[in-house]
Amino acid sequence: MSVRYAAPGSRTRESVTARRERNGAPREDHVIVLFGATGDLAKRELLPGLFSLAKAGLLPARYRIVGSARSTLTDDEFRQHARDAVAEFGLAEPTGEAWHEFAESLSFGSAVPTDPQPLLDAVTAAEKAIGGHPRRLFHLAVPPRGFTPTIGMLGDTGLASNARVIVEKPFGTDLASARALNETIHAIFDESQVFRIDHFLGKESVDNILALRFANGLFEPIWNRDHISHVQIDVPETIGIEGRAGFFEETGTFRDMIVTHLLQVLGFVAMEPPTSLAAKQLRDETTKVFEAMSPLDVTSVVRGQYLGYRDEPGVDPASQTETFIAARVEVDNWRWSGVPFYLRSGKSLGQKRQVVTLGLKQPVMRMFALDPETTNVTPSNELVIEFDDPGWIAARFLAKMPGAAMRLGEATMTFRYADSFCTQYALAGYERLILDAMLGDQSLFTRADGIERLWEVSAPLLDDPPPVEPYAPGSWGPDSIHRLISPHRWYLPDGR
Ligand code: BG6
Repeated sequence: MSVRYAAPGSRTRESVTARRERNGAPREDHVIVLFGATGDLAKRELLPGLFSLAKAGLLPARYRIVGSARSTLTDDEFRQHARDAVAEFGLAEPTGEAWHEFAESLSFGSAVPTDPQPLLDAVTAAEKAIGGHPRRLFHLAVPPRGFTPTIGMLGDTGLASNARVIVEKPFGTDLASARALNETIHAIFDESQVFRIDHFLGKESVDNILALRFANGLFEPIWNRDHISHVQIDVPETIGIEGRAGFFEETGTFRDMIVTHLLQVLGFVAMEPPTSLAAKQLRDETTKVFEAMSPLDVTSVVRGQYLGYRDEPGVDPASQTETFIAARVEVDNWRWSGVPFYLRSGKSLGQKRQVVTLGLKQPVMRMFALDPETTNVTPSNELVIEFDDPGWIAARFLAKMPGAAMRLGEATMTFRYADSFCTQYALAGYERLILDAMLGDQSLFTRADGIERLWEVSAPLLDDPPPVEPYAPGSWGPDSIHRLISPHRWYLPDGR
């Protein structure tokens, strides 16, 4: 991992080639193959993200992008599809020379594992257009059941040679399926070629957790059980399932969000200082956190379902799939023993936020009388990291209010990217991670042993899930979440 980015939206007249050289774009020529190219993820994130990388000069000097799906599209139809996706979801308009160059790089080759020929033809044509032996990068943006046949096809056709593969989430649905998937992958690819993606880890502010902790003398000394009473990782969303009943009924919030995203963030929050920021050292440390996690205790988990979920098209009217999870997790090691980590995520909640809160212990002696008018019963002394782009970090503490009397009020010191740097965030999560995959940097991708361990600690909940509790859309989940976190309280919605 290294610092090397400029803002894609940069208004300078510098040429794409010059930017490419300056920013450290991948040196190897690439053929990028997007499986699931007509799907939702490609439309919302991957196609706009690839164009954004191209515009920022962060794609290699010679590249081609081959879309693939079960459907059959001509190259021009795929270009139009990509243009619509960028226009609707991208930050940069699909116009001008940059778009023209990008659109020229696009082609389409349909693939079903039983008939890979159109894809083979498209990849061969793309490689010929580039010349030499470009690196292949396969992005598996397909439903989980599509991973195994697609990987088998890459092996059978020889496409897997000189290749790397980005595997979308969720990676398996339990320990047995994750192990089986890892075995399938490892029969074709070496672990060094495998990039299990969690786009949260590509967010600027998640990286910044490492900087906050390990580049400063201020925070790391208190980052432990002596000073921190509890940690919250809270990812409420306002959206419902957005027509994804098929995916969601099979997956649910625990697999979709907790294993895939929140526990990965927990790895960054809880890790020991790595000996370097290289991929092996970083992933060794997050995996050690997962190893230290106790198996989930089902009595410390609240599963919720928003009222109206069962009426969504495609949802079983008696569905027990959870759209909400709150859970208490223990990391039983020297740093964190006795410090509960509370995780919460759900659909149709009161706000869209992505927040880590570290609650600090009260001072041993209380010299100041608490004034009920100006402070809460438990005064807030917290470090708050909002990690959704553009993100901010705030320290909330008590300060003396101006005046003759010694009265305390809640105060906040806030860091915002735009106040300190000339840009808010350079790359969206997916952009950053696709770039890292082209560079062969696995730092921000989950390793096989790490994901297997997460499924292992999840087993008690997956084997014996408590019934779902209903909650009102727009609320913060079922009422029992307050018992779960007691004697602490959820930072949201009252914290800002
Ligand atoms: C995806 C989940 O991985 O992350 C979605 O499948 C969720 O259910 C999304 O809404 C949230 O990510 P972000 O960063 O787009 O808010």
